[in-house]
Amino acid sequence: MVLSPHLFLSLLVILATSTVAAEDFTAYTVTNNACATAGGARFTGDIGVDHSKQILASATAFIWSIFLQTDPADRKNVHRVDLFIDVMDGVAYADNNEIRVSSNYIGNYTGDLEREFSGVLYHEMTHVWQWDGNGTTPGGLIEGIADFVRLKANYTPSHWVQPGQGDRWDRGYDVTARFLDYCNDLRNGFVAELNNKMRTGYSAQYFVDLLGKTVDELWTHYKAKYGI
Ligand SMILES: *[C@@H]1O[C@H](CO)[C@@H](O)[C@H](O)[C@H]1NC(C)=O
Ligand SMILES: *[C@@H]1O[C@H](CO)[C@@H](O)[C@H](O)[C@H]1NC(C)=O
Repeated sequence: MVLSPHLFLSLLVILATSTVAAEDFTAYTVTNNACATAGGARFTGDIGVDHSKQILASATAFIWSIFLQTDPADRKNVHRVDLFIDVMDGVAYADNNEIRVSSNYIGNYTGDLEREFSGVLYHEMTHVWQWDGNGTTPGGLIEGIADFVRLKANYTPSHWVQPGQGDRWDRGYDVTARFLDYCNDLRNGFVAELNNKMRTGYSAQYFVDLLGKTVDELWTHYKAKYGI
């Protein structure tokens, strides 16, 4: 078969476009394994599969922007994320590009469920995309970065500590997120640079490299700023 020049060019364009799209594209699935429970029914009624996919996609775009990862080569090689609503206790966790949210948590939540659910997904989606120093980054820092993203997305829950509160920088979650926010104010893009450094390993020296002080000095100054 002889292709006309026009058809040949069209095929080339299609091939080129699909190569670019494949690098940038993340697929999302949402499965409600808790349909028979009150929490599962509330998920379907108040949030639903389609809206969950929108939140997952927004979270991904937001995380790439917070991490300053405009180049796909800087990102983790993830092209699919699966969300499950499961009958379990606790709130949620992420493992192996799967995010699991508790139907009991959804069922019992009082307050703005959509906002809380979004905050939880932004936190868990950060675990999907963040570098972990090939498994050597302290758990408190991992959780702190996930809550830093949640903070920057304005999904901060009311029960969080206030800035300056907490007993140690690597306590994790809200305590570490507030501290990272302080560090990020000292150097715009600090959390992004820290994350990108953790692609292959972790060292407390990264704080010195980026901010000129040890993490313990930074924590002391942070506490002093708030007079705590
Ligand atoms: C609330 O949580 C409890 C235990 O975690 C669970 O048994 C119960 O079904 C939940 N309630 C709703 C409405 O989901
Ligand atoms: C990551 O850690 C594993 C062991 O946990 C090791 O085998 C591997 O070489 C490490 N990869 C890099 C890039 O350091």
